Amino acid sequence: MGTGIRPRIIRIVAEEMDIRGRIEDLRELVRYHNRRYHIEDLPEISDAEYDALYSELESLETEHPELVTPDSPTQRVGGDPLEQFEQVRHAVPMLSLANARKIEDLREWDARVRRLLGEDETPRYVTERKIDGLAISLRYENGRLARGATRGNGTVGEEVTANLRTVRSIPEKLDDDPPEVLEPRGEVYMTLAEFEKLNRRQEEAGKPPFANPRNAAAGSIRQLDSKITARRPLTVYLYGIGEGGDLYESHSGALDALKSYGLRANRYRLHDDIESVIEECEKAAGERESLPYQIDGVVVKVDSRDQQRALGSVAKAPRWAIAYKFEPLAGRTRLNDIIVNVGRTGALTPQAVLEPVNVGGVMISRATLHNEDYIKENGILIGDEVVIERAGDVIPQVIKPIAEARTGAEREFTMPTECPVCGEPVSRPEGEAVTRCVNARCPAQALEHIIHWAQKSAMDIDGLGEKLATRLFDLGLIKDVADVYELAAEQLVPLEGFGEKSAENLIQSIQNSKQQPFSRVLYALGIRHVGSVTAQLIGERFGGEDLLCGVPAEQLAEIKGVGAVVAHAVAEYFDLEDNRALVGRLMQLGLDFEREAGRPSEGPLAGKRVVITGTLSQPRSYYVERVEAAGGAFTSSVSKNTDYVLAGEEAGSKLEKARELGVSVLDEAGFEELLSQLPA
Ligand code: IVH
Repeated sequence: MGTGIRPRIIRIVAEEMDIRGRIEDLRELVRYHNRRYHIEDLPEISDAEYDALYSELESLETEHPELVTPDSPTQRVGGDPLEQFEQVRHAVPMLSLANARKIEDLREWDARVRRLLGEDETPRYVTERKIDGLAISLRYENGRLARGATRGNGTVGEEVTANLRTVRSIPEKLDDDPPEVLEPRGEVYMTLAEFEKLNRRQEEAGKPPFANPRNAAAGSIRQLDSKITARRPLTVYLYGIGEGGDLYESHSGALDALKSYGLRANRYRLHDDIESVIEECEKAAGERESLPYQIDGVVVKVDSRDQQRALGSVAKAPRWAIAYKFEPLAGRTRLNDIIVNVGRTGALTPQAVLEPVNVGGVMISRATLHNEDYIKENGILIGDEVVIERAGDVIPQVIKPIAEARTGAEREFTMPTECPVCGEPVSRPEGEAVTRCVNARCPAQALEHIIHWAQKSAMDIDGLGEKLATRLFDLGLIKDVADVYELAAEQLVPLEGFGEKSAENLIQSIQNSKQQPFSRVLYALGIRHVGSVTAQLIGERFGGEDLLCGVPAEQLAEIKGVGAVVAHAVAEYFDLEDNRALVGRLMQLGLDFEREAGRPSEGPLAGKRVVITGTLSQPRSYYVERVEAAGGAFTSSVSKNTDYVLAGEEAGSKLEKARELGVSVLDEAGFEELLSQLPA
């Protein structure tokens, strides 16, 4: 008996050590790639590869909660909601900056600096971009992030450590040999692309969009629930040091040091005279529109710390620094009309037709009004005088009306009930802010559908990326996804960049995609809310023929994992004549619309999720096969969606969790009994 037990204990210990080692390796890897991506801007691996590492770490930690440590990169996702923010007194006040509106103001400032320093001293200047975000302070003690705070009123700020920990470009631990106390300061911001994405998400969730990236960043950091902050893609640029700053002889030296500690420091340039500074300001003004984030000026600082100390501060701003401010990106004009656009995802977006106005050097005549609710909630009427704002290349938006300027001739806007492009009825599901056209053949959406169709996670048509799809679409060679299968090599060969071989290859990969199983096809159709997992669940229950005949939403909602919203979207999709015609054509072209046989939809475990844990008398694979043969799905972690946990000897945390959640626990005998109900 003894001989049977010993080797098993050794195996378990070895396994545990293996896991511990793997977790540590994964943490190192994730930290390293975080740094390459967020701090050095030099990613080495694709987002998907990064996600794979991250989720492997996450699931190992879920399975081994005892191995989770607070410094694991997964712990950056935020803790429990805070009651309210604590106040933080800044040991060194966080000052603001005097502004230079004109180039001439810079020359005057330079003259004053020189006068105050006296003839023996020549200032060297540092310029940095002035990013439009939220000022924050980070306090590192012995190289570890101990506290993060907002600027607040400059003397007292809010303690937002948990939120700042979720910002991936803020390291938990510093490299090199930082001083015992180091308080880097900088700006937390959101890139324009992320800002746009966030606003789209806000709209989809029926929440008000943010007016600009600054508000979005500030709103994200001042969240009481850091889990929300964690989902907001924030970045940081550090531009100075509060406590510990005296250790560096120059500002540029301090920024270099921040970089060597692994922090994301602002880029800077050194200048020997103000004319060179002015050149830089003019250059930055020209680049303003092409940067991925919003800047509202250039900050000019005296580089030498001694000179800074000699110059000192007045009121709330240092004499040794000044902000050259660009023109604001907001303006006022008349809203002449509201028209409705249909986007590539079918969303109907009201657009403002404006009396043309110059905003920061660009003539603006159109702006977005987001959606129906936005117009109502902000009380915007056609004919109103309105405030508009723009951010880089992001579509300008109407912020608010100037109610005082009304004449009485203004009128209300109403959303159309038919798609302005294809004429089909539009829908606005309950609880959603967006009105949509759900006709897959609506010309406004066709290209987006084709791009989605071809991508790796859908039909995986190698070589048919966004660029080529757009080209073929613009040339009129493909108008919908079915056309893709009717493309001939002869049509491609004359196109620039194509030879006979590459044309043949593309046609081949298009044809190969016909082998994709039905769940992929279903996902590729791009039905709203139908992701690949949902498509799998539906595809295992219904085939294409069933869906074409019209499966009612209630029946779809009976599938485990398919909710009412998804069920409604699927039923609505197959309700539309044009969509049915498209699916019919795809069937004729030979795509797979067969219900997926991978897992039978009948059997004692149909639609059930089973978790296996502990030591059983047979190898694990034996039970997995039995579960699947009985129509069930084998999953690795226990949740409230788990139906059964098959627990062997020495079952640990999964068993505990099952008990906690009240999930049925089976031993081997119970499991066999359940399966004995299987028809022969
Ligand atoms: S230096 C004592 N540098 O601008 C110097 N500020 O108007 C204090 N800002 O509250 C700030 N980029 O949030 C500095 N490179 C930069 C900056 C910057 C943006 C913001 C900062 C500050 C505000 C002052």
